[in-house]
Amino acid sequence: MLEQIRQRIIDTFGEEVLKKPFGSIVHIPEFEEEFLSVLAKISPVPNVMVEIGTCSGVSTTYFSQWASHISTYDIKNVKIKYKIWELFNLKNISCCSVQSDIIPKLIANEKFDFAFVDGAHDYESVVKDIAMVKRCRRILFHDYYSLEVQKAVNSLIATDGGKLKIETNNFAYWEKI
Ligand SMILES: C[S@@+](CC[C@H](N)C(=O)[O-])C[C@H]1O[C@@H](n2cnc3c(N)ncnc32)[C@H](O)[C@@H]1O
Repeated sequence: MLEQIRQRIIDTFGEEVLKKPFGSIVHIPEFEEEFLSVLAKISPVPNVMVEIGTCSGVSTTYFSQWASHISTYDIKNVKIKYKIWELFNLKNISCCSVQSDIIPKLIANEKFDFAFVDGAHDYESVVKDIAMVKRCRRILFHDYYSLEVQKAVNSLIATDGGKLKIETNNFAYWEKI
C-alpha cells in the first residue's frame, strides 16, 4: 500500500533515514498526501518508467509499487536505498549510480513510457534531464515551486508543445499525447 510506505520506513529505520545526507528532509514523504493524489490522477499507470534522482530510494519505493518497472539514476550511491528496497521486497528496480556524463548514454538505450525528474534543480540541469527523457511524452517534475524548474518546464512547452495536465505546489505533470 502506497499510503503505508512513509510510516513503515520510519518504524523500521527511524525518522533519520528520511533525511538527506546534507540534512534536509527528503521531499516525497514530507508531501506524501500531495504526491499520492498526483499519482492517482495519472493514467494510464506507466509500464516502464525512468527516474532521475534516486537519493535514498524513497520515491523509487513508491514508484516501484505503482509502475511495472523503474530504472532509477543518480550520480551518488546512497547505500540506505538497498535496505529500504529489501524491506519492501522490491524486485522491479534497475538502479544506476554513475557519473553524470554516462547517464544520457544509458537512458538513450532505455524504452520507457513515463519519467520522474528529481535530480539537480537548477535550470540547466533540468533542461538536460528533460532532453534525456522527453521522448516518452509523459514527465512528472518535482520541486515545481522552484522558479528554475518552472522556467525549464516552460521551455519544454515552448519548444515541444504538450501541456501541463497537473500543477500543484510541488509537482507538475507534462504530457504530449
Ligand atoms: C532531491 S534528491 C532526489 C530525492 C528522491 N527522488 C526522493 O524523493 O526520494 C536529488 C538527487 O539528484 C541527484 N542528482 C544531482 N544531479 C544529478 C544528475 N546530473 N543526474 C542524476 N542525478 C543527479 C542528487 O545526487 C540527489 O541524490
